[in-house]
Amino acid sequence: MKYDLEIIKKEIADSKADNKEELEIYRLKYISKKGIISELMNILKNSSNEDKKNIGQKINEIKHLAKQKLLELSQYLEISTISDIKEDLTLPPLEKLGSKHPLSIVTNSLIQIFQKIGFNLSDGPEIEDDWHNFTALNIPPNHPARAMQDTFFIDKDFVLRTQTSSIQIRKMENTTPPIRTISVGRVYRNEAISARSNCIFHQIEALYINKKVSFKDLKQTIYYFAKELFGKNVKIRLRPSYFPFTEPSAEVDISCIICNQKGCKICKYTGWVEIGGTGMIDPNVLDNCKIDKKIYSGFAFGMGIERITMLKYKINDLRLFTENNIKFIRQFKKLNI
Ligand code: DAH
Repeated sequence: MKYDLEIIKKEIADSKADNKEELEIYRLKYISKKGIISELMNILKNSSNEDKKNIGQKINEIKHLAKQKLLELSQYLEISTISDIKEDLTLPPLEKLGSKHPLSIVTNSLIQIFQKIGFNLSDGPEIEDDWHNFTALNIPPNHPARAMQDTFFIDKDFVLRTQTSSIQIRKMENTTPPIRTISVGRVYRNEAISARSNCIFHQIEALYINKKVSFKDLKQTIYYFAKELFGKNVKIRLRPSYFPFTEPSAEVDISCIICNQKGCKICKYTGWVEIGGTGMIDPNVLDNCKIDKKIYSGFAFGMGIERITMLKYKINDLRLFTENNIKFIRQFKKLNI
């Protein structure tokens, strides 16, 4: 191939635009119909299956990067154009470029980690109906498992979703397997706000359905994710547990990276920290979504993004995420990616 993908990647990352003309030059070079990205996509289309496998992922990565960069450059221009306007001394001072919120940094890393192994992204509503949030997940009306989560009810049929597991159902209802998807979003629970809990937080949910999916696949996927995010020395542990929508079910623990398992407040001196739940999809859930349980099996897991972010950046109070304290957020500036 006449292109060196690594060089293109680096050139995109290093691109700059100090004015609209330079931004347009960037756009023409990479994103326009005759740009490098669409040429790469053409090359990909016409390659052998073997080549597709080898370079497809890299090209998609470059495409994503190029679009992201365009957005960044135009946002930067917008801000710097504002500051070019003749100064009005009565205005409050314009802040310098902001930094990404730590939850966004971790969310973006999580998406990239799972995209690398073929998971796509799905979405669902935050105001959810009873079927998707509970009943289809094998939690029928009056089942005691409804009390596992303190729910905000909107009326008798609608709730603020208590878990991103509701998106699993939406995906299974309208997709023929194989399914390999993650979803990220806000969830709501009627809990008192403290250093360890909040009534609004974020979860990431993964769902994999195919023929012959086993617990081994589940374990390896979680292990892969943990190593990618926390580094190669991290260990995982799956503890038997109960969730209505999985059988068997387990709680996911990772080795405490704050104290290296020597024992600290965060891991309550156990050396392990819980980050979420997992299990093999209960056949009842497959039935509810009209997926043939004789042919397909699958696994799912759900994890708290705040919890993961707290571990990754050694943050000890969950309230910091929502207080908008600029000193707190600025610390993450150097990590902006
Ligand atoms: N939805 C569960 C919760 O919010 C977490 C969870 C457990 C998600 C097991 C899953 C799963 O997908 O398989 O507590």
